Amino acid sequence: MQHRTGAELRELFIRFWQEKGSHHYPSFSLIPDDPSLLFTIAGMVPFKPYYLGIRQPEHPQAVTSQKCVRTNDIENVGRTARHHTFFEMLGNFAWGEYFKKEAIAWAWEFLTEWVGMEPDKFYATIYTDDEEARESWVREAGLPEERILRFGQDNNYWFMGETGPCGPCSELYYDRGASYGCSSPACGPGCDCDRYMEIWNLVFTQFDRQKDGSLTPLPRKNIDTGMGLERLTSIVQGVDTDYETDLFRPLIDHTCRRAGITYGSDAKTDMPVRVIADHIRSVAFMLADGVLPANDGPGYVLRRLLRRAVRYGRLLGFEGPFLCEYLPILIDIMKDPYRELCEQRLTIEQIIGVEEERFQRTLQQGTELFEAETANLARTKTAVFPGEAAFILYDTYGFPMELTLEMAAEQGLTVDQEGFRKAMEEQRERARASSKQKKSSLAGDVYTELESEQGPTRFSGYTTCTDTGQVKALLTADGPVQRVEALDGPVELEVILDVTPFYAERGGEVGDQGELHSGTDTAVMEVTNTVPHGGLIVHKVLLQKGAVSLGDRVQAIVNDGRRCAIRRNHTATHLLHEALGRVLGGHVRQAGSLVTDQFLRFDFTHHEAMTPEQLRGTERLVNQRILANQPLSIRECDREEAREMGAKALFDEKYGSTVRVVSIPDFSTELCGGLHVSATGEIGCFKILREESIGSGTRRILAVTGLNTLKLLQRSYDLMFQVAGILATDEENLPTRAQELLDELHRVKRQAQETALREFTKNVESLFTHKDVDGVTLQTGRFSGLEPDALREIGDRAKAKASPTVVVMADVTEDNCRLVVMADDAAVERGAKAGDLVRAAASLMGGKGGGRANTAQGGGGDVARLDDAIAAIETLLASQVNQG
Ligand code: SER
Repeated sequence: MQHRTGAELRELFIRFWQEKGSHHYPSFSLIPDDPSLLFTIAGMVPFKPYYLGIRQPEHPQAVTSQKCVRTNDIENVGRTARHHTFFEMLGNFAWGEYFKKEAIAWAWEFLTEWVGMEPDKFYATIYTDDEEARESWVREAGLPEERILRFGQDNNYWFMGETGPCGPCSELYYDRGASYGCSSPACGPGCDCDRYMEIWNLVFTQFDRQKDGSLTPLPRKNIDTGMGLERLTSIVQGVDTDYETDLFRPLIDHTCRRAGITYGSDAKTDMPVRVIADHIRSVAFMLADGVLPANDGPGYVLRRLLRRAVRYGRLLGFEGPFLCEYLPILIDIMKDPYRELCEQRLTIEQIIGVEEERFQRTLQQGTELFEAETANLARTKTAVFPGEAAFILYDTYGFPMELTLEMAAEQGLTVDQEGFRKAMEEQRERARASSKQKKSSLAGDVYTELESEQGPTRFSGYTTCTDTGQVKALLTADGPVQRVEALDGPVELEVILDVTPFYAERGGEVGDQGELHSGTDTAVMEVTNTVPHGGLIVHKVLLQKGAVSLGDRVQAIVNDGRRCAIRRNHTATHLLHEALGRVLGGHVRQAGSLVTDQFLRFDFTHHEAMTPEQLRGTERLVNQRILANQPLSIRECDREEAREMGAKALFDEKYGSTVRVVSIPDFSTELCGGLHVSATGEIGCFKILREESIGSGTRRILAVTGLNTLKLLQRSYDLMFQVAGILATDEENLPTRAQELLDELHRVKRQAQETALREFTKNVESLFTHKDVDGVTLQTGRFSGLEPDALREIGDRAKAKASPTVVVMADVTEDNCRLVVMADDAAVERGAKAGDLVRAAASLMGGKGGGRANTAQGGGGDVARLDDAIAAIETLLASQVNQG
């Protein structure tokens, strides 16, 4: 077999299928346009609507090398030769164009003739009685009957998920020889060992699995195949595992060089080496596709992988950040065809840097909490790490559960996972109760059916605010109906027209509001929101009076004033995006946005708070463009052409290759489907309200335009005059006057404290309990409502009453406990460290603390755990003075 690189095999596959008439699509995003999946898990995912018949394929057959992420088997990653979280799936797809016979014949031709694999080393598996597949393997591939094996649904049926396209499949296995085998007499294709390697899965996608598990036949017979590029490469390159192919090897080598180890010499270090190589691929590709670290959804998976890689780096002795070192190596391997890695390099680097540094910090703090908890467990002789503490580690310190499990196992402890789940569930409940739930749509899968019956809604709203449309569907809470009438007050329903000027919420822009009127029954409907469902535009309406029936012609009138405000904010968002890039640097990238009629919200990647000068500079740049009153140019073009124009593209990958490009001449060019002003002057004036952090490396700006800016100014002036009136001064002198008053207040407060303190400290000994800890007097006092200075003063006096001594003071209010710990010099000499004592105690109360050996402070909100915290101080102090 001729030696080929991974990149050459990828190209060879694409060329082969192009010769068979398939259209080549570059890999789609890792984030699918499909709410049922977190990630693209297979090559067929981006084509799901073609399988379901909701959209007509642009081309009847296609070929891709698709970036995929699967995390269901994450514990196996690194342990085995070929489990990965990120991999590339080589796939060919056909919708009603060719079926089993051709798929089988061509797969065979590719592997045996193009790649040059030995025909007599192949086995095929088929679904129980799939005679058509069996015959094709015999006739088209010449495979002898004894090398065709039958399996049931577990092995030979492929499902995309709980619902969605599925069908029987046939898999090709390649026998790598007895030396790879497990020598079990039952060893054969399907065995878990490395001898019979499954390389290609051919799925004959014929059904759509419903929520109830039933299988509905699809409109046509389809083909979906998937072959792991990494596996194929390992066979062609004759190496034992995927990690030794040229797709991974430079990453592996870097780790080994850095750690001073040799790959393959010790299973204990090989695993971390593989984990890092695997996870850096997922992390970099997710970031390149716009995923940002978060506490749920895809962002959490990203965070978890990144943290797992950091932790495994530590096991190899890596200190400080190291992950970014892999980027140039990865880019070198993958830049062709994955240009996004180069284009997003700065952003990827920056986010990895911030996340890694943040985790290194919390790794330290969390480890301290972990140790304080385990000290407590040792004291009470318990072998189960509490679920609640595991949850705090997860929630506050970002420890993935598996990390806590691993650390607990190292100490011979198990983790109360049930308790962890309970704590997590309780927190979810709290979150659910506090955030108003999004109102679910009135009818579930009905939309998919409606769209396949009548096609997508035509949107006419780019150029007009009013239009006439025909009612194609009426949906109430009970599903589709023929007619709705308002008898006793307004009725809630959803209306779908054949054509509408109403913009459906998308790309961060809210949906239009307005009215629908029908002539026939004089129905008046208030449109409260407009939302998309696939290609349908759904008006959420309140039928105020009259009746509406299917087929009625209605006048659709968008609330024009509101829409103008939305347009102003949307164009201002583009101006802001570009201005931020110019003021802060090229790493700024959009991380999300919300465009409403009241304000605009823009989230972007940047690692620190903006300075007042940067904020003012950004506002100035945007307002200069507004004053220049530049006309916008909006046109549709080819995706590739848009890319060449340098259009900023967001990560909502769409089907088809035509995109809409919105340009503000000489300033900004973005792909965007939203509504815009015709010239920038219409925006009026732009003002930033707030700039804040919303998580690691991501900032948020809230801003207003148009009349909302005027409202803001009016309100600010009113407030300023009002405050000036109260403080009996004029606006110019406001800051000085406010400062004077505050200083005076502090002075008075301090005097009051001093008087109280004098009373308090007359008999300091009575304020404390005393205990002997291996020759050190531990004095513990509880107070309420004292400032840290006052506590320290009391502490100083207590310190003078004994030696060696450690003084612990807890000031408890309803929801907070402040801790001050002081140790005299004799105690410090014995080994006491106030900083460590406070840190351990505070973390037990869900807080933080620290300081020097002789004085330190901290605190936490979990006041109920104060006794435990004090007990932990005692235990820790005993171990400090015994070591000292
Ligand atoms: N969808 C199938 C798989 O993932 C074939 O591409 O195995």
